Amino acid sequence: MIMGLAFILLASLLSTAVLCSPTERASYSLVDNCTGSSSFFSCFDFFTSRDPTNGHVRYLSQSDAQAQGLISASENSVYVGVDYKNKAPNGRPSVRLQSKKLYNRGLFILDLAHMPASSCGSWPSFWSWGSETAWPGSGEIDIIEGVHTNTVNAMSLHTAEGCSISGTGLAGRVVTKDCYVHATGQTENAGCGIESASGSSFGTSLNSVSGGVYAMEWTASAIKIWFWPRASVPAALGKSNPNPSEWGLPDANFAGNCDFNRHFKDHRLVIDTTFCGDWAGVVWDSNPTCKNLAKSCQDFVANNPGQYAESYWRINSLKVYSQ
Ligand SMILES: *[C@@H]1O[C@H](CO)[C@@H](O)[C@H](O)[C@H]1NC(C)=O
Repeated sequence: MIMGLAFILLASLLSTAVLCSPTERASYSLVDNCTGSSSFFSCFDFFTSRDPTNGHVRYLSQSDAQAQGLISASENSVYVGVDYKNKAPNGRPSVRLQSKKLYNRGLFILDLAHMPASSCGSWPSFWSWGSETAWPGSGEIDIIEGVHTNTVNAMSLHTAEGCSISGTGLAGRVVTKDCYVHATGQTENAGCGIESASGSSFGTSLNSVSGGVYAMEWTASAIKIWFWPRASVPAALGKSNPNPSEWGLPDANFAGNCDFNRHFKDHRLVIDTTFCGDWAGVVWDSNPTCKNLAKSCQDFVANNPGQYAESYWRINSLKVYSQ
C-alpha cells in the first residue's frame, strides 16, 4: 500500500517534470510592446544629428516627419518613409528611430509588412549598437541590412578585437568569421557576416511576399537571427510567450570564440533608411545596374525623388522580451 502510494507520487512528480521540460516552458516574457498608433513611436527617439554613416540624408524630427508625411500610424501598423517628391541636393529627408531604452540580452521581434525596396542609392537597416563614442567596443548587431538592388539580407556583428564565430548551426551562408572591425584578411569594417538563406529576406523580395517576421535572440553565449516570410510565420509567435528552442535552425548563428557579455553592452535598437554613405556610396560603381544611372550615388539620390516612393517601412510591431 505504502509502496503503491510512493509509486504514484513518484509517477506524478515525473509527469510534472516532463510538463516543465525546456520546450514546454515559456522562456521569455514581454517587456516592450511597440505597436501601432497607441505605442510604436513612444518607444523611440527621432535621431536628428548628422548621419554617423555619412549618408546623403537629412534625418527629421518627429514633428517635421509628421508634417511632411514621412511618418503615420494606424491602430495596427506604422509607416516610416522618406521624401519622394522633392529634389534633395542637401540630403534626402528621412527618419532614423532609436529606442529610448538600452538593452542587454533579450529577444527582439520585428513584424514587417513592408520595408524600403531594393532601390539604387538606398541603405535601409534594422540594427542595434552601444553608442557612437563607444563603437565598436560595445558592439553592433545588424539584423536587417543591404544596399541598392540587394534582395538577400546581410546580417553581421561588429566588435573590438577578440570575437569570432565558428560558422555552424545555421541555415544562412557564412561570409566572414571575425567580428573585429579591423580583422586582417577581411575588408575593413566587414565584421563577421552571414547572408540569409531566404530569397525573400530583403527589400523588394520581402515586400513581394507581404513581408515577414525577424527575430533576434541575444544571450550570453550567442546572437541568433530567424526570418520567416509571411506565409511561414509560426502561428504561436505573438500569441504566447515565444520560445526560440522550438524554432529550429536560425538563419544566422553568431557563436564561437566570443564573450557576448563583454563585447555587447547597452544597445539601442535603430530603424533607419539612409542613402549612399559609407556602404551604399562606396559600392555605387561596383553595382552594374546602379552605376549606369548616374555618375555618383549622391547625384542619383538627390535628383530622382520618384525612385523612393517604395522606400518605406510598414511595421506591424516591435516586441522585446526578456528571460
Ligand atoms: C500589444 O499592443 C497592441 C496595441 O495596443 C495590442 O493590440 C496587443 O494585444 C499587445 N500585445 C501584447 C502581447 O500585449
